[in-house]
Amino acid sequence: MPGFELIGEEERKEVNDVLDTGVFMRYGFDAARRGHWKARQLEEALQERFKVRHAHVCSSGTAAVCAALAACGVGAGDEVILPPFTFVADPEAVLLAGALPVFADLDETLCLDPQAVEHAITPRTRAVLVVHMCGSMARIDQLLEVCRRHEVSLIEDNAQALGGTFGDKALGTFGKAGILSFDYVKTVTCGEGGAVITDDPRVYGLVDAFTDHGHDHRGKDRGADEHEHIGTNFRISELHAAVGLAQLRKLDRILEIQRKNQRLFLEGLADLSRLRFRMVPDPEGDSATFLTIFLPSEEEARKAAGELAAAGVDGCFYWYDNNWHYHRKWDHIKQLRSPGLLAVHKAGWLNGLADLSLPPSDAIMSRTICMQIKLSWTRDQMAERLARMRSVLR
Ligand SMILES: Cc1ncc(COP(=O)(O)O)c(C=O)c1O
Repeated sequence: MPGFELIGEEERKEVNDVLDTGVFMRYGFDAARRGHWKARQLEEALQERFKVRHAHVCSSGTAAVCAALAACGVGAGDEVILPPFTFVADPEAVLLAGALPVFADLDETLCLDPQAVEHAITPRTRAVLVVHMCGSMARIDQLLEVCRRHEVSLIEDNAQALGGTFGDKALGTFGKAGILSFDYVKTVTCGEGGAVITDDPRVYGLVDAFTDHGHDHRGKDRGADEHEHIGTNFRISELHAAVGLAQLRKLDRILEIQRKNQRLFLEGLADLSRLRFRMVPDPEGDSATFLTIFLPSEEEARKAAGELAAAGVDGCFYWYDNNWHYHRKWDHIKQLRSPGLLAVHKAGWLNGLADLSLPPSDAIMSRTICMQIKLSWTRDQMAERLARMRSVLR
């Protein structure tokens, strides 16, 4: 997800505005900053892009998840349903909120299966954290309907599918809050950064305060701000926001290149009967950061992943064996290894987390390979790559 492939003069100009004033903090110092409010401008640009009433930028996507959970009232003893294929930031954030992560199975969208979510809902469920993984979307309409029916909050983690849509709506705008990440390897990067987007003024107010020690940000004098509730420091710096501002303006260009490059491989592999492609509920809305293929069996997929790497086809992830993104290697989370006691330890709300077993998800993920799509590939490089892939995968 390579915004970093397009760093140039535009980012330099925005950063220099900040360096010229020396005001790196997003709040206060009104006179010294000489009209430069990069974090605010990035928020306005996100509001416009996502057609939402509110956007709040913060220090990371992880911070955004924590803030969104807090703003949706998730706390000690609550359950949050989430997929077993995501980044560890999500279960970490749930545990740090004092709540229990409840993993439900995914389907061939590689995102939460609406039926599995419905089965996982209990009276303690406070939120469903849907993750649009690897550039494409969950069956978000059905998930929204399940959440509405059970009166639980839907939070969308859209760290990995920036610019993706379902119908005429941007991913991240279906639920109570949407999360974006602008870390170094995301579609748009700030270096480090994240955002919560929402139409709900109450959620926005809570996120805005939570990410800055509970400050109400009502007046001009930061020292005189009231603190209505506890928060923390998840602030973004002006330097990071400046990079993001220039990067966000490139999003359409990035999407166009990603989609064109992904199409070349989709079409170039379409005749291989051994392969199937990931289910994409709205193909027009795929942000196309990855090409995802299913092989017939775990054995064939693991072998193909090894052979692709050996053939010089880099960036092909076999997530089933990956330490970061699939639950199989999350022993530290399943065993709740933490420097200090967590709320869930203390209360014993463990619900079999240590023995987590999700055969339907394993059956899908064990056959899945995702290839990252780069912006900088030339036509010749893609033709060469495709030929090597075909020789391994046919
Ligand atoms: C699905 C998902 N959620 C959340 C995050 C956390 O974002 P950040 O790295 O900005 O903290 C990531 C980052 O990789 C991610 O992929």
